Amino acid sequence: MAEPLGIALLGCGTVGSGVAHLLLNHAERMTRRAGRPVWLKHVVVRDPAKQRDCELPPGVLTTDLDKVLGDPDVDVVVELAGGTTWARQAALAALATGRDLVTANKALLARHGTEIFAAAHQRGRAVAFEAAVAGGIPIIGAISQGLAGNQISSVQGILNGTCNFILTAMTERGSDYAGTLAEAQRLGYAEADPTLDVDGSDAAHKLAVLVRLAFGMAVSPDDIDRRGIAEIAAIDIRYAVELGYVIKLLAEAWSDGESVALHVSPTLVRKGTPLAETRDAFNAVKVTGDAAGETLFSGAGAGMMPTASAVVADIIDLATGRAQLMFAAQRLWQTDAGQLTVRRSDEVLSRFYLRLTVADRPGVLAEVATLLAMEGISIASVIQHEAPEDAPGQSVVLVAMTHTAKTGRFRAALARINQSDNVREPGVYYPVAD
Ligand code: NAP
Ligand code: HSE
Repeated sequence: MAEPLGIALLGCGTVGSGVAHLLLNHAERMTRRAGRPVWLKHVVVRDPAKQRDCELPPGVLTTDLDKVLGDPDVDVVVELAGGTTWARQAALAALATGRDLVTANKALLARHGTEIFAAAHQRGRAVAFEAAVAGGIPIIGAISQGLAGNQISSVQGILNGTCNFILTAMTERGSDYAGTLAEAQRLGYAEADPTLDVDGSDAAHKLAVLVRLAFGMAVSPDDIDRRGIAEIAAIDIRYAVELGYVIKLLAEAWSDGESVALHVSPTLVRKGTPLAETRDAFNAVKVTGDAAGETLFSGAGAGMMPTASAVVADIIDLATGRAQLMFAAQRLWQTDAGQLTVRRSDEVLSRFYLRLTVADRPGVLAEVATLLAMEGISIASVIQHEAPEDAPGQSVVLVAMTHTAKTGRFRAALARINQSDNVREPGVYYPVAD
């Protein structure tokens, strides 16, 4: 039997507990798949007195990273702490002391990927990060290996389980936003700071990682246009359903070979399509390549065991040597496609959903249509329900779906519409993915 592979886990929260559970309670399976025993030697945490969701052997839990990195039996450091401060220092220290690195930390990769990957190449080590995007779905392996022969033209996905869990509950059960977010936190889906989930940052971090792999392009998450879900009103969810759509938080990137347009936004997705049918904390990613065509990957996008599944796959790949071979050969995270630029979101073509609260008087619909037409935008359909009989002359809600237009022109039209005396409050709009 080959030498055991020594593992140090940094973090034993939601994901770390799941990984410890798999390594400790399915050791025979791990040995068989890895070709050698996988030995959980250390688990580094902040508070050793805290109750854990897994039972660790005596002497494994510690707060002393230096002591762990001084142990010659540690071959792989698995960073599951989160954040970009201590996690960055620990990841770089692990690589500097000759360890391979596994991480589920998309924020760390999106912000400091270049530094971490350069440090790994310099030391001849590998970084594996299957769990960083889409939880249990092996999307990193799919793009970097399974679709390696393709020129990828687009990546489109539901990449945040927390947001999808909340939007599904609001759409299908009329649940309230705050209560459902608290439930997502209790179930271990949300980030330590759930603002990152609901404001679209977590999806932007994941999109930045996918764009690196799919297009070889370095993009800062700060350069990704994003809107989150906190502002989505129940009325827009209801109108979307009436129109035959559901609202999903989509992360999308399209390349035309010269530039890449990318954004994270609540988007109307037509009911019955695979993305619309992706419910709860599930994720789905659609990748389009010139040879494979459209491919769709779906599965649990967050939570203890689905994420642990991806982390343990990386550990097994390191044990067998597969991960080191791929990492060295692919030179991932090298900016070899530096000629690609970020396309301004104003240039992106889309249809739009627009909800206006307007005065219930003659000529209002014509005025809205005219202001849209001035930017070359035509209306595809309109919903306006009658004002309640006891409130004549009051405001009414006008919902319009447009035909395809440039985002910049749509925004320009909306700015004019918002200035009209007939419009009671700023219009609410979302792109529509057909
Ligand atoms: P979590 O439940 O908050 O656990 C974090 C763990 O890291 C805790 O055990 C904590 O120790 C430890 N830790 C944090 N800062 C530390 C420090 N400075 N020194 C020592 N230990 C420290 O987080 P999680 O949900 O497992 O997420 C971990 C990582 O996986 C994050 O990068 C997250 O984005 C990513 N991820 C999570 C999911 C998911 O569904 N949850 C899915 C995919 C990826 P204490 O327990 O002592 O506080
Ligand atoms: N907070 C993340 C989500 C965890 O909800 O998708 C998985 O990356």
